Amino acid sequence: MHTKVIGAQFIELASVDSTNNYAAEHLSLSELQHGAVILAHDQTAGRGQRGRTWTSSNGLDLTYSIVLRPQGLKAADHFRLGKVAALAVHQTVEEALKVTQGVGGGQVRIKWPNDILVDRQKIAGILIQNDVVGGQVQSAIVGIGLNVNSSELNHEHHATSLRLEVGQPQDRMALLERLCQVFEHWWDLLASDPAQVDASYVERLWARGRYADFELDGQPFTGRPVDVDADGRLLVEGEAGGVLAYGLDRLRFAPR
Ligand code: BTN
Repeated sequence: MHTKVIGAQFIELASVDSTNNYAAEHLSLSELQHGAVILAHDQTAGRGQRGRTWTSSNGLDLTYSIVLRPQGLKAADHFRLGKVAALAVHQTVEEALKVTQGVGGGQVRIKWPNDILVDRQKIAGILIQNDVVGGQVQSAIVGIGLNVNSSELNHEHHATSLRLEVGQPQDRMALLERLCQVFEHWWDLLASDPAQVDASYVERLWARGRYADFELDGQPFTGRPVDVDADGRLLVEGEAGGVLAYGLDRLRFAPR
């Protein structure tokens, strides 16, 4: 993998229900070390956020989970894990597009909390399961689904893939390796300079500083995302001017 930790233990499965489920079932330290990567070439019951399913094409996309055993990460700071994951996927996608499209390629953004978009289309999703003991994150399973070579995507879900963006097939395993490298970079930065991780996340936030349509408690709401707080709640400036923090339990981007 050319990494120190992320992917040093690598488990490759032809097919599994969900790599997050697999990681949860084998979470004991003797089975999965910090940084372990579980890759499935096919997922039969991939899981998405909010109880949704995650679909990917057998052998065409990337579906994998990274197991982390943070040292001293307070439960209150758990959202920083999501930032690290989002920044790593964001960087990998951006690099893949730049190589083939130059700087003028599609804009890669992080849609709160951690979807990755190219322009307005979703290219990757992240599902994190934390195990908290005594106020500390003892372990985390970071599940990443990246649309790589799929070309039959659900347009109603406004999804895209690297292949569709770039116009040619992509090397999945090279992308996985790059993802592990950049994940390790952002993970190390979290230990040495967490403020830099926070700032980088906010800089890449989709719709930051401009009005976007949301649903707040199920009702239409227009607001301007400005930042996230330590709990991962989105800070949104309403049209009347005040800034309030909302979690996923109350706020979501309006479906298009
Ligand atoms: C989302 O809804 O956007 C999150 C999708 C997360 C999908 C990945 S694929 C690998 C891992 N295993 C799962 O079952 N889900 C995550």
